[in-house]
Amino acid sequence: MSGQLEVRGLRVVFDGFQAITDLDFTVQPGELRFLIGPNGAGKTTLIDVVTGRTKPASGSVRFNGTELVGRREHAIVRLGVGRTFQTSVVFEELSVLENLDLAASFRRGLPALLRARRGVSGVVAAVLDTTGLNALADRPAGVLSHGQRQWLEIGMLLVQRPSLLLLDEPVAGMSRGERERTGHLLQAVAKDHTVVVIEHDMEFLRRFASQVTVLHEGRLLCEGTVGEVQADPRVQEVYLGRSSSKKEPVV
Ligand SMILES: Nc1ncnc2c1ncn2[C@@H]1O[C@H](COP(=O)(O)OP(=O)(O)OP(=O)(O)O)[C@@H](O)[C@H]1O
Ligand SMILES: [Mg+2]
Repeated sequence: MSGQLEVRGLRVVFDGFQAITDLDFTVQPGELRFLIGPNGAGKTTLIDVVTGRTKPASGSVRFNGTELVGRREHAIVRLGVGRTFQTSVVFEELSVLENLDLAASFRRGLPALLRARRGVSGVVAAVLDTTGLNALADRPAGVLSHGQRQWLEIGMLLVQRPSLLLLDEPVAGMSRGERERTGHLLQAVAKDHTVVVIEHDMEFLRRFASQVTVLHEGRLLCEGTVGEVQADPRVQEVYLGRSSSKKEPVV
C-alpha cells in the first residue's frame, strides 16, 4: 500500500559508520505513528534524512509521491514537512505570539515578514487555541515552563501548515501532567495532520500510541500496536539487554 511518507531501502553512512541500514518505513495519511528504539538506533537520523538535513548514501524518501532525497531543507518545508528538534529553537526574548508570527512568516516569505502586523492572523489565533497558549500569548518565551515551550514549538510548526509533522522527543523532561496534555495535543493535531513522534516513555505510548515502529542499530526491528511491540521478544531483548540505558525498559 502506498503511504504519505514512503522510505525505501534507506542507508545512511557517517564516516564509514552505517547509522541506517536497508530501512523501509511507511506512514499513511492521518496516522499518529510512534518511533522508538534505544539510544543511537537512528531515529533522529531518519527524521534528518526526511527533512533534507542529512543526505543518505542510498535509498528513496517519497512524500505524497514526490522524491525528497536531493531536495534542500527549505524546499521540503514548502512541500509541507515540518519537524522539531531535540533541542529548543524558540526566541526567548520574543513573546509567544511573536514567535508564532515569525514562524508563520517563514512560510509566507519575506514580504510578510517585513509587513507591519495588523492584529493576530487567523492561523496564529487557531494555533494559540490548539496549543492552549492563549493566556500566555504576550509573555516572553523565555519564561515558559519546559512543557509550554514544547507546545510553542509544536505551534510554530502548525502555523506553517505542514501536512506531516516529525517530532523528536517532545515529551522528554516533562512532568506527568504536561505529558498528558501533550498526548491530547498530539491526538488533536493528528485529526488533520500526519504525525510521527519519537518517544521513549512506555507509559506515554501505552496511553496515546496506536501504531509503533521500533528501530535498533539502524534497522527496523518490528512494527505493530503497542501490545504487539511490547510482546515481541526481540524488543524485550533490545531493551532489557541494556540495563544501563537511561531509557525506561519496554516491558
Ligand atoms: N552527524 C553525525 N556524524 C557521525 N555520526 C552520527 C551523526 N549523527 C548521528 N550519528 C550516529 O548515528 C547513530 C544514530 O544516531 P541518532 O541520533 O539517529 O540516534 P537516535 O536513535 O536519535 O538516538 P537518541 O535516542 O540518543 O536520540 C549514532 O550512533 C550516532 O552517534
Ligand atoms: Mg535522537
